[in-house]
Amino acid sequence: MTSRDVHVYYGNHEALKGISLDFEEKGITALIGPSGSSKSTYLRTLNRMNDMIPGVTVTGNIAFQGNDIYAPQTDLVALRKQIGMVFQQPNPFPFSVYDNVAFGLRIAGQKNREALDAVVENALRQAAVWDEVKDHLHDSALALSGGQQQRVCIARVLAVSPKIILLDEPTSALDPISSSQIESTLLQLRKDYTIITVTHNLQQASRIADRTAFFMNGEVVEVDDTKKIFMNPAKKETEDYISGRFG
Ligand SMILES: Nc1ncnc2c1ncn2[C@@H]1O[C@H](COP(=O)(O)OP(=O)(O)O)[C@@H](O)[C@H]1O
Ligand SMILES: [Mg+2]
Repeated sequence: MTSRDVHVYYGNHEALKGISLDFEEKGITALIGPSGSSKSTYLRTLNRMNDMIPGVTVTGNIAFQGNDIYAPQTDLVALRKQIGMVFQQPNPFPFSVYDNVAFGLRIAGQKNREALDAVVENALRQAAVWDEVKDHLHDSALALSGGQQQRVCIARVLAVSPKIILLDEPTSALDPISSSQIESTLLQLRKDYTIITVTHNLQQASRIADRTAFFMNGEVVEVDDTKKIFMNPAKKETEDYISGRFG
């Protein structure tokens, strides 16, 4: 996926000031930066989630598999299956665990019970939560712990076979143990998926990300291999941020 000179305006306020970032297939990219630096705004441009916000304007080019995702003929449902999203607050539907994970396939018309069973199990295994929920598949997902709910949300995304998974601070509402389980899940998934995750947790970025992009004031100050960003950043602003001088 590539993005070129992406600007986002909320009304007259320019929140994103010309972002050009490329994402290789597979692996994890972390988007870091102070609160209000437009990390979430940028993440939402990648599957057109900003479209839902009134008064928003997006300019520039974002291409996925060679197609401009902002082209008028883009099928947004299909796009968001290919480029799935996980939010800060776990947001399972008030249904059973099974029905949460089967949701997208059922919408797509899959009725075959065995096929659904197989996809649900596989997605929950990939999200590293199968062992914990396999005896509760028909209980409400809302009865699970926050960390389990978040992994069920990841499974819900995986069930529709995405290529890219976007996550916006997926662990910031979770306790440390649940957060570390999500981190291990993402490390498993990085072999098969392109993962782009916003985090304000610098340790998390350094533990899991292959590449890291540092955002400030709606711009990307620096993007590089994670080790380089943390050990030997090219820009003074990056160094100040990662050494905790602001943010
Ligand atoms: N829905 C919105 N309407 C208007 N302004 C917004 C909206 N969402 C974000 N902004 C503004 O855009 C800027 C970037 O916000 P955001 O992308 O949420 O930053 P971050 O995720 O880095 O904390 C902020 O100034 C914020 O107030
Ligand atoms: Mg944000």
